Amino acid sequence: MSAKVVVNIPGEAAYDVRIGGGVLARLGAHLRALPALEAAERALVVTDGNVGPLYRDQAKASLAEAGFRVSDIAVPAGEDAKSIAVAGEIWEAMAGLGLGRDCAVVALGGGVVGDLAGFVASTYMRGVPVAQVPTTLLAMVDSSVGGKTGVNLAAGKNLVGTFKQPLYVCADTDTLATLDDREWACGCAEIAKAALIDSDEFFFWLADAAGALAARDEAVVAEAIARSVVFKADVVAADKTESKGVRECLNYGHTLGHAVEALAGYGTFSHGAAVAEGMRFSARLGAALVGTPMALVESQDALLDALGLPALSWSAEPAALLDAMKRDKKARHGQVRFVLPRDVGDWELADVDDGTLLEHLGAWARSKER
Ligand code: NAD
Ligand code: GLY
Repeated sequence: MSAKVVVNIPGEAAYDVRIGGGVLARLGAHLRALPALEAAERALVVTDGNVGPLYRDQAKASLAEAGFRVSDIAVPAGEDAKSIAVAGEIWEAMAGLGLGRDCAVVALGGGVVGDLAGFVASTYMRGVPVAQVPTTLLAMVDSSVGGKTGVNLAAGKNLVGTFKQPLYVCADTDTLATLDDREWACGCAEIAKAALIDSDEFFFWLADAAGALAARDEAVVAEAIARSVVFKADVVAADKTESKGVRECLNYGHTLGHAVEALAGYGTFSHGAAVAEGMRFSARLGAALVGTPMALVESQDALLDALGLPALSWSAEPAALLDAMKRDKKARHGQVRFVLPRDVGDWELADVDDGTLLEHLGAWARSKER
């Protein structure tokens, strides 16, 4: 059984997101059926050192069966591969393989591979088609859809990139069997974010389904992915290039989350754990600034607990957190910007002044001492 979500973004070719167990076997056939790839001869699978040994052969076999001559390249696993140096190695490899404009890049992996391969595809020969084959829960629910690509600079994450929508997204939930619990929880944090920003319907469904999602129940996982993809596709359709104040909602929980990751030291907490902490903080900030109901704060806490994302027993100096937030690329004119939930399914973007923010960060830090 598989599900299909169609992503329809104004000015872009519509594309399918296919979700389910075993859909990787049909990757080649789906790509071959696309008018843009009808005559394509070559495909390059870009993957990483963890995912390659697990799923590269399946992906390559499916592509070969559909008549593609397939090459592959593996980058080191982890965020460090999202660099201009590694992008350069892939460009050179593509040129060395004689790949022309009629090839397809297939990004097989988590968000790192998806962002990197998407960036390479959008720049090689001024742009070749890319298909996303996400293998982490986070990539299935978030990064594989919406077209943001990029690499990191020493000065910060994702500072160089493009918008490049994929031709097709293949989310084979069977690949999640090898994902560890830490990465699983990262995907759960993004699903919780999507549900809270989206609607009562999604949020209360997830509140009921949270235990089953944490336990990786197959049907619940597929439904959570499909709902998150529908949500993300709607947001991106409304604001493809994050210029209309809509796509920023995807940053809910990330303002404090990024600062926590940076100050604790990258890798100390998972991205999901940091984002979940950021969601808890933002909801409380919302209660003070925009009347977020305490019932939301409490039900979001319960949801995050049930998803295996407990509140952190960690804090930092408010001034250091503020400084880290100001260095985030989403800050505007030195003002830190928060997505605040007015209610489930209703949010606003708020520039929060330093004094107010320091006061609330102080209360947050003190709450960790108890
Ligand atoms: P990741 O790609 O680093 O994957 C996490 C780890 O899991 C890696 O070690 C990877 O090798 C391993 N892995 C992947 N699939 C696996 C599987 N099926 N079985 C076993 N191991 C597997 O991390 P991620 O969380 O998927 O993505 C994070 C990246 O996504 C960040 O760089 C972030 O900036 C980016 N991102 C992009 C967008 C976007 O819209 N483009 C949105 C959110 C995040
Ligand atoms: N930050 C996720 C997105 O905008 O796609």
